[in-house]
Amino acid sequence: MALASSGVLLLFFYVLRTVIAVEEKEVTSIVGNTAELRCIYSKENIDLSQLRIYWQIADDLKTCPVVHALILGEDNQSDQCNNFKDRTRLLKDKLEDGDFSLLLLNITPRDEHTYRCIVQKKMDRVFKVDYDTAVVLRVAANYSQPVLHGPTENRPNIEEEITFTCKSSGGYPEPKVYWTNEDNISLPKPNMTVIQDPDGTYSVLSTLKIKSTSKMKIGCSIENRVLQQNLTTPNFEKINQDPKEINEPDPSPSKPDAKVISIVIIGTLIAALIGLTCLLWKRRSCRRALYTDVQQNEEGAQCNAPV
Ligand SMILES: *[C@@H]1O[C@H](CO)[C@@H](O)[C@H](O)[C@H]1NC(C)=O
Ligand SMILES: *[C@@H]1O[C@H](CO)[C@@H](O)[C@H](O)[C@H]1NC(C)=O
Ligand SMILES: *[C@@H]1O[C@H](CO)[C@@H](O)[C@H](O)[C@H]1NC(C)=O
Ligand SMILES: *[C@@H]1O[C@H](CO)[C@@H](O)[C@H](O)[C@H]1NC(C)=O
Ligand SMILES: *[C@@H]1O[C@H](CO)[C@@H](O)[C@H](O)[C@H]1NC(C)=O
Repeated sequence: MALASSGVLLLFFYVLRTVIAVEEKEVTSIVGNTAELRCIYSKENIDLSQLRIYWQIADDLKTCPVVHALILGEDNQSDQCNNFKDRTRLLKDKLEDGDFSLLLLNITPRDEHTYRCIVQKKMDRVFKVDYDTAVVLRVAANYSQPVLHGPTENRPNIEEEITFTCKSSGGYPEPKVYWTNEDNISLPKPNMTVIQDPDGTYSVLSTLKIKSTSKMKIGCSIENRVLQQNLTTPNFEKINQDPKEINEPDPSPSKPDAKVISIVIIGTLIAALIGLTCLLWKRRSCRRALYTDVQQNEEGAQCNAPV
């Protein structure tokens, strides 16, 4: 019994949701663009002189009762809210067909509302609501390409805590920030600060504090769920020194990396080999050509000696 009745209840909610989904249309508009909010009054013999058409904000009637009004075929903006002044248009040549769609110009994040189109018809000398529809306006703005900053110091020690920051701005709605690490080491929870700028768009600053490892490839993504878009930074790549190397006294002012070290070793080996050849062949000329940047030693002296 209980199962059956909950099933009926579920079905009821499902139907209700479907009905609402059909009635509330949704449009997405980019900041700065023009949005078209659809309202189609599909009746026979439309006589504009018998109609009042009101566009309102359904979820905020107190602050703005009239977005646009067409009364007896004439635009009447005497009650229009200031914030919509000169930003609304009806499609003049389509009114006769019952198309009362509203063009809303220069969209800002503050226009994100549910709008209602109400058509009142004069019946027996009084106006009665004959049609009512709602449109949800979603606003979106593209975030700027995120900028990633890592440690500026050349060689953070291993295990030292280092800070990465990821910045982006001018987007809407609020973003999601993802940090990625190519080595697939789980990252600590970042700290995120989101502020709303005067134009209604958001700026985001996410900070990630992490223990330095020998090799790191950190990246950051800004997700805009309305635009279904991820903006990703190039990876910040950092190769740190091994702890053993750090502990050793470093004679040169700039740190030699692995490549330089191997070149030096190979070079020394080649030089030693050539030196050995010289020794065997006792040729004077070879020393001048090849020993120029190696310290003179006994072998060199021998090579130098006349045959
Ligand atoms: C607009 O409507 C107001 C009442 O809402 C009325 O007083 C005014 O005369 C109308 N203006 C025009 C131009 O129709
Ligand atoms: C959003 O901004 C990014 C970075 O500025 C750009 O690469 C991308 O093409 C933009 N996307 C849209 C839909 O404008
Ligand atoms: C990354 O880590 C997750 C869980 O932490 C795991 O499911 C996934 O297979 C790993 N991917 C690679 C490429 O190692
Ligand atoms: C996150 O950063 C803000 C601003 O820098 C700071 O006030 C706040 O304490 C930080 N929160 C955490 C959990 O670190
Ligand atoms: C953006 O990236 C995150 C993390 O990789 C992922 O979970 C999400 O689904 C992506 N979103 C889109 C719209 O691609």
